[in-house]
Amino acid sequence: MNLPKLPSDTILAPMAGVTDVAFRLLCKKYGAGLTVTEMISANALARENQATIKMIDVVEAEKPRVIQLFGQNTDSLVQSAKYCEDKCEILDFNLGCPAAKIIKQGAGSALLERPNKIKEIVQALSQAVRIPVTVKIRLGIRTGSINVIKIAQICEEAGAKMIAVHARTQKQGYTGKADWNWIKKVKENVSVPVAGNGDVKSVEDYVRMKTETGCDYVMIGRGSLGNPYLFKQIADYNKTGKYTERSKVQQVKDFFAYLELAQKYNIHFNNVKFHAQAFTKGIPKSTQLRDSLSQIKNIPSLKKEMLTFLSQVKELEK
Ligand SMILES: Cc1cc2nc3c(=O)[nH]c(=O)nc-3n(C[C@H](O)[C@H](O)[C@H](O)COP(=O)(O)O)c2cc1C
Repeated sequence: MNLPKLPSDTILAPMAGVTDVAFRLLCKKYGAGLTVTEMISANALARENQATIKMIDVVEAEKPRVIQLFGQNTDSLVQSAKYCEDKCEILDFNLGCPAAKIIKQGAGSALLERPNKIKEIVQALSQAVRIPVTVKIRLGIRTGSINVIKIAQICEEAGAKMIAVHARTQKQGYTGKADWNWIKKVKENVSVPVAGNGDVKSVEDYVRMKTETGCDYVMIGRGSLGNPYLFKQIADYNKTGKYTERSKVQQVKDFFAYLELAQKYNIHFNNVKFHAQAFTKGIPKSTQLRDSLSQIKNIPSLKKEMLTFLSQVKELEK
């Protein structure tokens, strides 16, 4: 099965501990065409680990829903994919995570060294479920051994219906610059849609990534932290050729929009606190606010603190 038609060409990148359902819905409201859960351990899911099951926080309002799995054991991945099949419209497989505890298990980006294993897993997943399977890859392990084109072709042959390319190597982690030339090369060498990913933080970056690489979709991670409004700016730009800067008041108000959803969906307090910090970054006096936020232990106190901050920001912007 192919990908469903998406309402826009922007995708919120999966981010562990960040892209909870409240944040995903806010990004969607602002124009993200697709949102993805954080990565879910197929090994843990196959063991029916309750904490892992709870991490699959997708809701109907989010459709099309994407659950991302990571793992290296084909049987566990297939079992987990079948478990997820009725809960989402797309299943994504993580081939990019550079975290030590993940690559030690042979999962995430460690698999980039094992093209045959990738072929086996992607084929097994594609055959096991009725929904489209997509992959998220990196350039390779290190600069000297970039194999992203080969990996992308293998994934396509094995049945992947979209390939997201984070244009960094495993060794780069999240540092250095993403090399978009490789996104262009992947796009020229596969026929399924390609999502370009890495360092898109503004409308200008989005436009540049599309024109320089020819990618079908632009996937945005850190650029959306505290700033889901970026999806609206891109949507406005695509519709009218213009967009407006976000005011500081809007920035704080967006946190309250997140908070409302977070309360509705019972999001863990640590996530809410993380987002409160992210949504206030760059605003005068926010360092003080962030100091007090770090002491706060519950939603009512956090809300009170943020409301006081909002009135200060309103005064500043008068
Ligand atoms: C805090 C954090 C958590 C992440 N978690 C995941 C994850 O669960 N799955 C995944 O495929 N990538 C994960 N990533 C990588 C992002 O999806 C993305 O590929 C990367 O941040 C590069 O895009 P950007 O420059 O737009 O941030 C994570 C990145 C960050 C910063």
